[in-house]
Amino acid sequence: MQLDPDSLNARDMYQWMTHSVLPRPIAWVSTVNNAGVSNLAPFSFFNAVCARPPTLMFCPANDRFGRKKDTLMNIEANGEFVLHLVSFPLAEAMNATAASLPSGESEFERFHVPSVPSALVRPPRIPTAPVAFECRLDRIVRISDGPIGGNAVFGRIVQIHAQDAILGPDGRPDPSRIDLISRGGGDYYFRLGDRFPMPRPE
Ligand SMILES: Cc1cc2nc3c(=O)[nH]c(=O)nc-3n(C[C@H](O)[C@H](O)[C@H](O)COP(=O)(O)O)c2cc1C
Repeated sequence: MQLDPDSLNARDMYQWMTHSVLPRPIAWVSTVNNAGVSNLAPFSFFNAVCARPPTLMFCPANDRFGRKKDTLMNIEANGEFVLHLVSFPLAEAMNATAASLPSGESEFERFHVPSVPSALVRPPRIPTAPVAFECRLDRIVRISDGPIGGNAVFGRIVQIHAQDAILGPDGRPDPSRIDLISRGGGDYYFRLGDRFPMPRPE
């Protein structure tokens, strides 16, 4: 089949993207507002961008009324966030923090997510996350305004945290030890499955 995206409304287009761009890793992002209240939310429109300078990107869309999400507003206000990867034991807590709370209420407190101070940025870090990247804002690219409008947040990694248990003998993360989850379309998620080797051509 063949389809013109202009023939789809935003909801249908979203379904096409989220059921075919798979699996999507999950960025569990902590921020703080100007009053110092912490915020935590998951984002699966997320990926690595480049290693020099070390840069990640995730996309908090506007809500259906065109309002910016707290995560975006906090980053616009103070330019800092911590981006955590999510392992299977953290799945339910991660999902709980997708609830829309008033901006003065912290998902950390409401859902009893553990936190410790970060090394270089103000937003707190989740110590149980397998990997956490403290980030400073590089730039925000506004794709569109209004309901479901798109925003891409690029962050420079300024500090890396990893649990010792996920490291391999070479001191780097070993994918087989992380038990990462990723978004699988609708209410589904993936756990990492089979890996197979395939050397790249010269
Ligand atoms: C697994 C998962 C992935 C999500 N990915 C995104 C995403 O990529 N972009 C987005 O705008 N919202 C995404 N959401 C919804 C946000 O987490 C939700 O709107 C949240 O309330 C935003 O919180 P905030 O207003 O505190 O920033 C996702 C939710 C879940 C459970």
